[in-house]
Amino acid sequence: MNTKLKSGRGKQFFAICCLLLSINYFPAAAQDLSLIPMPVSVQKGNGSFELSNSTVITVPAQQPEIQKVASYLVAKIKPATGLTLKVASGSFSSTIEFVINSKTDTQLGKEGYLLEVTSDKIKISANAPSGLFYGVQTFLQLLPKEIESNKLQSAVAWKAPAVTIKDYPRFAWRGIMLDVSRHFFSKEYVKEYIEQLGRYKFNRLHLHLTDDNGWRVEIKSLPRLTEVGAWRVPRTGTFGSNEPAKPGEKPTYGGFYTHEDIKELVQFAKDRYIEIIPEIDVPGHSMAAIAAYPELSVTKDASIKVNPGTKFSTWFGGGKFEMHIDNTLNPTDEKVYQFLDKVFTEVAALFPYEYIHMGGDECYKGYWERDPAVQAFMKKNKLKNGEELQSYFTKRVAKIIASKKKKMIGWDEILEGGIAPGAAVMSWRGTEGGIEASHLKHPVVMSPATEYYLDMMQGDPSIEPPVYSTARLKDTYMLNLLPEGIDSAYVLGGQGNLWTEQIPTEAHAEYMTYPRAFAISETVWSPKNKKEWNGFVSRVEDHLGRFDEAQINYAPSIYDPIIDVKKNSNGQLTIDLSSEVQNVDIFYTVDNSIPNQYYPKYDGTITFPEGADMLRVITYRNNKPMGRLISLKAEDLEKRVKK
Ligand code: ACM
Repeated sequence: MNTKLKSGRGKQFFAICCLLLSINYFPAAAQDLSLIPMPVSVQKGNGSFELSNSTVITVPAQQPEIQKVASYLVAKIKPATGLTLKVASGSFSSTIEFVINSKTDTQLGKEGYLLEVTSDKIKISANAPSGLFYGVQTFLQLLPKEIESNKLQSAVAWKAPAVTIKDYPRFAWRGIMLDVSRHFFSKEYVKEYIEQLGRYKFNRLHLHLTDDNGWRVEIKSLPRLTEVGAWRVPRTGTFGSNEPAKPGEKPTYGGFYTHEDIKELVQFAKDRYIEIIPEIDVPGHSMAAIAAYPELSVTKDASIKVNPGTKFSTWFGGGKFEMHIDNTLNPTDEKVYQFLDKVFTEVAALFPYEYIHMGGDECYKGYWERDPAVQAFMKKNKLKNGEELQSYFTKRVAKIIASKKKKMIGWDEILEGGIAPGAAVMSWRGTEGGIEASHLKHPVVMSPATEYYLDMMQGDPSIEPPVYSTARLKDTYMLNLLPEGIDSAYVLGGQGNLWTEQIPTEAHAEYMTYPRAFAISETVWSPKNKKEWNGFVSRVEDHLGRFDEAQINYAPSIYDPIIDVKKNSNGQLTIDLSSEVQNVDIFYTVDNSIPNQYYPKYDGTITFPEGADMLRVITYRNNKPMGRLISLKAEDLEKRVKK
């Protein structure tokens, strides 16, 4: 404590401060701002700005793009506040002023902004409209959480604490991938998904548009891709063990985006400064295309259907696998390249951005290896193995994509057998592919599965929908995007990937995306030295409150207890309990009763009593349950002992 407070004047000052704080006179000083991603610099001021009916958003005259950002803010503010802010040029008494710097601030770049909140006005200045958009996002996060509500919240004072924030991103590529093939997500939902990504300063939505389970983009010159390839028989069982189509069963489940749909999505995303990156996954993962055009594969098997999530592969560990149904394009057939030329011609015209993703992952080479014509082709072209044959294919695809004036990006398998000139690499099998590509001087996007695959469980496997592995919020947050040995000059940024084999619904897509997308957002936007787990997780809690207001789903897994089981030297099970959030108490039982705040409170390693059937655990805060009840049988605990 400051010793000056012991003097009389100090005591008086202290008492006045307490009084002022209690009447919320120093809101900015008294409460931490809860911003995600954390800005580069935040200087709190005194007082606050209050939105009112007389607040005007002032914009430079005749700049339609800036007008659009202003309209976006008007629309965001209206539902909860009931205020319809005017947008105008000129001076007014209460303003949110949008300013484009007359002299470029080189530190801010294209996406940075300066946000100044004082008691009488707000000023957002930037070099470009995208910076104004990000300044708007930060400003919205300064307002009370009820701003996220779609219903009028008449009891709230719409104050933003006085503050000066200077901010700009760490990485240029800040992405999330949505797999719309394994399950189709409607255009309306994709817009909602984009809307939320924009709120957290993401600027890339990678759409995984094609796979074994559905082709989702209309290609007018190849109509069967969506007439046939977009539909499969409906199944609600576990993906990977579903029943195949019964004889005569109609493929009624699926959908696709027309050219008009794509144009609408691209514009919607563009208005939120998000580029949509299309992925056409070839030469593997192509069963939907083969169902439509069987002649594209080596086997030319006309009985192949769009797959409803059956078990059609076996995985042997170490990345080795076998496909029981042929899902690969024939890399030796000119017709395949003519097909791809048609596909990429239309895709390139629909998505007005630099990159097209061509997949390249998990391509099974068995059907190629067993085909005499393919073998003869390899011999003639001096291709030693399947990897070199895939590399031949990828280089041909790169040329097709280049002929459409686009750059190519692919999963890290495109490194195998020799990478195509200029191709960018998305590193998913850990970070090694990214490191290797950077040394070969190829651009890299880091999306290692172990931390950035959003289809993984985020809490205890006993209460999460089952998936093959776990990436908790903390795992995602702690990832170092620039691992040792990488040449950071080639790292474009990072991306989380939402594969949807096990995600059939919109609610579940949100559950799996949030809050982990917050962790990715902060990693790709904020300076590395601003990242700090405890502060982050407390801000996450505030943002989950915002999601509650907005009625958007998220995983509450951070509140669940974490159960760590070991065995001591006497052969007894010992259990350590913790949680990702702070300030919770953990209550448990080992006698089959259901714990709450009146049961034993965890305060150190538990020795599981001999003969006990069950451990049950739950977290509480202020006498309220926070996490979900986890119940594990003795035999489950045994299985969890780390060998
Ligand atoms: C992938 O997860 N197969 C890129």
